[in-house]
Amino acid sequence: MLNIKNLSVDTEDKKILNNLNLNINDGEIHAIMGPNGVGKSTLCKVILNDKNYKKSGTIILNDKDITNEETYQIAKDGVFLLNQNPIELEGITNAEMLRTTLNAQGKKLNIFEFSKKAKEICNELNIPENFLHREINLGMSGGEKKKNELIHLWMLEPSFIILDEIDSGLDVDALKVVSESIMKYYEKFKPSILIITHHKKILEYIKPDFVHILKDGTIKKSGDYSLANYVEENGFNNI
Ligand SMILES: Nc1ncnc2c1ncn2[C@@H]1O[C@H](COP(=O)(O)OP(=O)(O)OP(=O)(O)O)[C@@H](O)[C@H]1O
Ligand SMILES: [Mg+2]
Repeated sequence: MLNIKNLSVDTEDKKILNNLNLNINDGEIHAIMGPNGVGKSTLCKVILNDKNYKKSGTIILNDKDITNEETYQIAKDGVFLLNQNPIELEGITNAEMLRTTLNAQGKKLNIFEFSKKAKEICNELNIPENFLHREINLGMSGGEKKKNELIHLWMLEPSFIILDEIDSGLDVDALKVVSESIMKYYEKFKPSILIITHHKKILEYIKPDFVHILKDGTIKKSGDYSLANYVEENGFNNI
């Protein structure tokens, strides 16, 4: 479903990714681990064609070349990125953003359907319903922002989900609520998932089919869940 071929990424003064290849089929869960600053978040942003990066290589989504597609179109094609540091958007509420986006996607819900669905999601995520009428992520705690992004996930129903360190900043209970919510979504819609993490704890909930180690600009090693255990015990030095 997502095929990344020979992806190299540069900023003005630095090579970040170097000939990276990754294939993620429908319904598969892939985890990427790797040292700080190795390019994991960059990879996530480049999939969505963040214009701050120069890149070469190809990114194919469902047989369509999205390498240079506009970000909004990639999102419309079903890709959802939960950023490591979700941005605060002043002046637009969650509800306004979601209604506008759903309309643009042709998934128009009437006000009652929208409100019922959104409130159910808030309750499942253990966040107040009034979050729907707050400006996006504005003034929210780190953990609240992650949950807030999940309202968007559930409302927009993407088929390819990228989770960049969704576990950072979550307390133990929130980690459980968030992970269970993602797995419930997975069971219902069977999306493909690319999850970035430093900790194997979240992978106990969101069980990956494959674990990859990103190092020196490329995927150095791939394996199953046992690779996450190896990293926890041995670090990245011998990979
Ligand atoms: N827009 C940019 N301009 C300049 N340098 C950048 C830019 N984006 C990323 N970098 C650099 O590229 C490297 C990779 O950054 P990235 O955020 O992708 O790392 P990461 O693997 O996600 O790290 P972490 O585990 O700490 O989140 C870092 O050295 C970072 O400073
Ligand atoms: Mg990162």
